[in-house]
Amino acid sequence: VNEGNGVKGLSELKIKTVPELFIQPLEKRLDMSKVVLKESIPVIDMSNYEDPEVMDSICDAAEKWGFFQVVNHDVPLSVLEDVKKATRRFFELPADEKKKYLFNNSPSKNVRLLSSFVPEVDKAMEWKDYLSCFYVSDDEAMAFWPSVCRDQVLEYMSKSESLIKRLLEILIKRLGITKLDETNQPLLMGSRRVNLNYYPICPNPELTVGVGGHSDVSTLTVLLQDETGGLYVRKLDSDNWIHVPPVKGSLTINIGDALQIMSNGRYKSIEHHVVANMHENRVSVPIFVNPRPNDVIGPLPEVIKGGEKALYKQVLYSDYVKHFYKKSHNGKDTIDFAK
Ligand code: SIN
Ligand code: FE2
Repeated sequence: VNEGNGVKGLSELKIKTVPELFIQPLEKRLDMSKVVLKESIPVIDMSNYEDPEVMDSICDAAEKWGFFQVVNHDVPLSVLEDVKKATRRFFELPADEKKKYLFNNSPSKNVRLLSSFVPEVDKAMEWKDYLSCFYVSDDEAMAFWPSVCRDQVLEYMSKSESLIKRLLEILIKRLGITKLDETNQPLLMGSRRVNLNYYPICPNPELTVGVGGHSDVSTLTVLLQDETGGLYVRKLDSDNWIHVPPVKGSLTINIGDALQIMSNGRYKSIEHHVVANMHENRVSVPIFVNPRPNDVIGPLPEVIKGGEKALYKQVLYSDYVKHFYKKSHNGKDTIDFAK
């Protein structure tokens, strides 16, 4: 795979079966008999986000589901449409153009085009290409991010900031923290990474995965998905999976490991999985809201001050992330690193 065209290039050869390399062991595929159709994750209308009932439903969703969708979130729908189009525009560039962003070629270590997950340790690859951008500053992005998508991605990031702040303010209130301040704000939202995901049409979705089951290492993730569908989340403490249907104009919010750790397990980072699609290419654009790499994270002092036992130890966030990337996608096992 590669020379810039990644899995998309393979998909375009119109092969009848996925190459051996992409065939996942049974336990890594999504068992469709475990998908429950009668349940769905909460959809929360954020227009009255200061209403105590709305705040409660956000905190309840973060505790019980770890995943929810928001509508009337204040990020203009045109901005969302534009970033989806920009993502497609990037992946539809000629291979020679995309090649510039491959691991060894990229003009900045903060921008990288990748396929699959950890080729060195994964036995099987995932049916996905993605451009991953660590945000340093607008100037750095203007200099190094691909010009066909950078303005739209930056606009999406900047227009999501107040939603991110609002959500975190609501979530920490239930933890007994009155507001974001200079100590907790960097820990909760000190850095950002944005991924542009492209899941090419796949001849055998049942043999492979778009993305294998994993939880995010973020504090929280703001995810934009297109109309294709294919994202499944595990129901808390169960063996069942629930589809996250595309809801027009919505953003999907999920709690990541960093917030599970900081809330001492109160908010749940949940395993999720993307199934490849036989008929449509799918794009999604997650913004990972993270601590800063050099932050040490652990249960927040306010959370354990009443004598609650700390379930996690203090870890350097960059070590935590390094640990995540060192291994293949494997459910919720990253968090063991903080135990
Ligand atoms: C991911 O969680 O890695 C991707 C989610 C998505 O594409 O919907
Ligand atoms: Fe994820």
